[in-house]
Formats: sequence, structure tokens, C-alpha cells
Amino acid sequence: MDVTNLNSKTALVTGAASGIGKATALAFARRGANLIVCDFNEQGLATTEQAIRDLGSDVFAQKVDVSKREQMEGFAAAVHQRVDAVDILMNNAGVGLGAGFLETSLTDWDWIVGINLMGVIYGCHYFVPRMVEHKRGGHVVNVSSAAGYVASESLAAYSTTKFGVFGLSEALRTELERRNIGVTAVCPGIINTPITRSSPMRGLAATPGAQERMVKLYERRNYTPERVAENILKAIQFNRAVAPISPEAWIMYYLKRFTPWLVAALNRSMAERMRREIEASTASNGSLGARR
Ligand SMILES: NC(=O)c1ccc[n+]([C@@H]2O[C@H](COP(=O)([O-])OP(=O)(O)OC[C@H]3O[C@@H](n4cnc5c(N)ncnc54)[C@H](O)[C@@H]3O)[C@@H](O)[C@H]2O)c1
Repeated sequence: MDVTNLNSKTALVTGAASGIGKATALAFARRGANLIVCDFNEQGLATTEQAIRDLGSDVFAQKVDVSKREQMEGFAAAVHQRVDAVDILMNNAGVGLGAGFLETSLTDWDWIVGINLMGVIYGCHYFVPRMVEHKRGGHVVNVSSAAGYVASESLAAYSTTKFGVFGLSEALRTELERRNIGVTAVCPGIINTPITRSSPMRGLAATPGAQERMVKLYERRNYTPERVAENILKAIQFNRAVAPISPEAWIMYYLKRFTPWLVAALNRSMAERMRREIEASTASNGSLGARR
């Protein structure tokens, strides 16, 4: 799809109130697309809606929890009253969870699988068949993560959902190829967005100061959601199957493919280093044992 001119195209973005979803919705609008946006954060969504309008694009915004099947069904019905089918579908809404498997409760699993995996499945289920039926082609962008091909101990459930999104995207790509619909699994690395503050932390990651250190790391790295949006546009333009975004995501992508043993060793040493740092700082705070 030619993304240099999206006039008369309709792009749908979930999780558009913040971060990567917001930046990409605005990037689509700047290229002339009409937008359909949703999020469960009503206030943030209203800000995005206004920003899209200020860019001169039409916009339809609805408060939706992507993990709720009936809400996604209602959203799709409202969208398809306005347009026959969307041209770009971006399943982006997602949440983080810093926890090893042993610290992840079944409530955590239900929550994160519901949003990160079922939310993407619902998005594809309710919007892709119309894209196929109307035979205009198009593109599906599913936001996975570098954690969708390299799993780490401290992101057990998050990685599981992102591997799922990666796998779904690969399967869907083959199925939709002959319908002229491209599919990309977008795999960002360390991107400076509010997700670092909103992600619940469990176990060692919940030790006082640990989340703040992670936030600082993401801020220092300062790879912006706007840069991610530019890369997503390129991925659509060139119909890439997988789009690692940021240098660290690319490095991990190739290491995992060609030297998986090295990735496993790096993972072990990073987990060990994090454990040592957290234990040292907890001991010096005198709060050892306060962990839950
Ligand atoms: N920031 C990173 O480093 C990074 C790295 C890899 C992948 N990602 C992925 O990128 C996507 C966007 O994340 P972001 O970094 O922009 O974070 P963000 O928190 O800025 O944006 C996520 C958006 O999703 C919305 N959302 C969450 N749960 C929802 C639900 N149930 N229904 C509807 N909306 C919901 C939030 O309200 C928020 O507006 C996520 O899927 C995330 O996993 C982020």
C-alpha cells in the first residue's frame, strides 16, 4: 500500500489514547487518512480525537475495552455503519506486566491474555472479514514486541501474549496474501511511552525503586513513539512480515535467528544482574523481606 498518500483510506487504531497508538494514528492522519480510534482511556482518546481533527481528517472515536468481546462486536457494528471496511487495521492496545511465571497469578494471566492476545484476535475477527469481502486490499498491523521473539524471565506472561500475536500474524499473512491484504507483526524494543509506569510489577520487579529504574532506562534510551510510527508506515509501504523497531530489537531478532544459544546466555546474565542489583539496593535500603 502506498502510504505517502492515504487520502480516502480509513485507518483503525486500537489503544490510540497514548504512546505508539496515538503517534501512529496522527501519522496516518498527516498522510490524509480518515481515522477510527478506540481506547478504554476516554480522556486520552478525546485528546487524540481532537488532534486528528486539527490535522483535517475525519475521525470516529469510541471508548472500548478490547478484551471485551461484546464491546469489540458493538464497536465493529458502529464502524461498519460508517464504512464498508477499513483499509488499515492496527491492533495496538496492550499492557505490560513485569513478573516471572512463579509470581504471575491466574488473575494476571486472564487480564494480560485478555487484552494483549484476545484483543488482537477480536480486532482481526471483527474487521478482517469485511476487508476480505470488499476486495479493496489493505493492511493489518499487529503490535507484538521484541519480547514476541525473545522471552525473558521477568516478562513471562507478557512474552507469552506477544509470541501469540507474532504467530497469529504469521499465519494470517499467508491466508490474506492472496486477498491482497498485507500483515505485519510490529516488534518494538525499548520505547519511551507511559507503559513503563502503568505496568504492574510482581516479585523482584516490585522491589522499591525497581520500576523507577526501568522508567529511567526507557527515558534515557528515549526512542520515541513518533519514530515507531514512521517505521510502521515503512513496514506497510514495503509489506514487511516482521518489523523489529529500534536497534536493540533488530539485534535481538538476528541473534535469536542465528545464535539462539547466545540469546539464552544473555538472558540468563541479564536476569542475574538484575537480581543482584535489586538485592543490593534492597539490602542497602534496609527493606529486605518487605517484598511480596
Ligand atoms: N513501549 C514499549 O517499549 C513497547 C515495546 C514493545 C511493544 N510495545 C507494545 O506497543 C503497544 C502500545 O504500547 P505503548 O508503549 O504505546 O503503551 P501506552 O501505555 O502508551 O499505550 C497503550 C494504550 O493501550 C490502551 N489500552 C490498554 N488496555 C486496553 C484495553 N483493554 N482496551 C482498550 N485500550 C487499552 C491504553 O489505555 C493506552 O492508551 C502495546 O501493545 C505494547 O505491548 C511497547
